[in-house]
Amino acid sequence: MSEEIHEYLKNPLSMYDIAGKTAIVTGASGAFGRGIAITLGALGVNLMLVSGNQEELDKVAEEVREVGGKAATMVRRPDSQEDAEAIRDAVLENFGDIKMLVIASGLNIPGFVHEMEYDDWQEVMDANVRGAWFMAKAVGGYWIENEIKGKMLLMSSVRGRHGNYSGYTAYCTSKGATDSLTRVLATEWGQYGTTVNAIAPTVFRSNLTAWMYGDDELGQATRARSLSRIPLKRLGEVEDLTGMALYLLSPASDFCTGQVMYVDGGYTAG
Ligand SMILES: NC(=O)c1ccc[n+]([C@@H]2O[C@H](COP(=O)([O-])OP(=O)(O)OC[C@H]3O[C@@H](n4cnc5c(N)ncnc54)[C@H](OP(=O)(O)O)[C@@H]3O)[C@@H](O)[C@H]2O)c1
Repeated sequence: MSEEIHEYLKNPLSMYDIAGKTAIVTGASGAFGRGIAITLGALGVNLMLVSGNQEELDKVAEEVREVGGKAATMVRRPDSQEDAEAIRDAVLENFGDIKMLVIASGLNIPGFVHEMEYDDWQEVMDANVRGAWFMAKAVGGYWIENEIKGKMLLMSSVRGRHGNYSGYTAYCTSKGATDSLTRVLATEWGQYGTTVNAIAPTVFRSNLTAWMYGDDELGQATRARSLSRIPLKRLGEVEDLTGMALYLLSPASDFCTGQVMYVDGGYTAG
């Protein structure tokens, strides 16, 4: 007796149908935020682009519109619960719902532990962990109250798993915390059907890594050390990562949660 063939088997691309849904992207002025926003916009997702820089957000919003998407912008970083709730409420006002939350905001301030200031350590922790927690609290509460099965995506790093020689006590610690936040939110929200996953890249070209692509000696050494242990023999570009983001934000990943997905050219394999 033959079983009925599921729609996803007959029409596999329907697993990636996210048209008409609404997403918040924090850090939308950055390399990953921009790449993910354009990808989602091209697939018909309504976007609320969030960061602290209106000019950069306007450029990304224009690019989203160029590929046929809808985008609104909000200049606000998720520095407090009030900020996170204001971002959530602006999305609801603009688009009426929220299905995806992408946390692509983040920061690194390299500094050796015996030399660096505590304030820098705290700033990295706040940008990379606290903002994600505030956004999770604001949007997760809305999802639970409205029985919405949401999709949350965080940006971790191979540095959540590996140390680094270049003054990364704050950054590595913040990414270890991101991995943990991903797992615990997935555990807490699984009962509601919401998935929470993270992408962990190696070095990709962006403002965050610009110091590794210039003349800075430590930057050059950091980049060379990363490259030397990547089996695919190159560093990342944003389009290397957007496919994974799409998977984690679409119905294709409905049974995948609490995972840290390494998009790292094989860095963590060796
Ligand atoms: N590029 C890489 O090699 C790499 C590797 C592993 C992980 N990651 C992670 O991926 C995420 C995005 O990185 P990216 O490469 O796209 O960096 P990016 O191009 O520098 O973008 C960073 C984004 O975060 C925002 N931001 C900066 N400081 C912030 C703060 N203190 N509070 C809140 N938001 C802040 C920036 O927006 P405004 O300044 O406009 O507010 C910008 O939109 C980060 O979490 C990063 O750690 C990157």
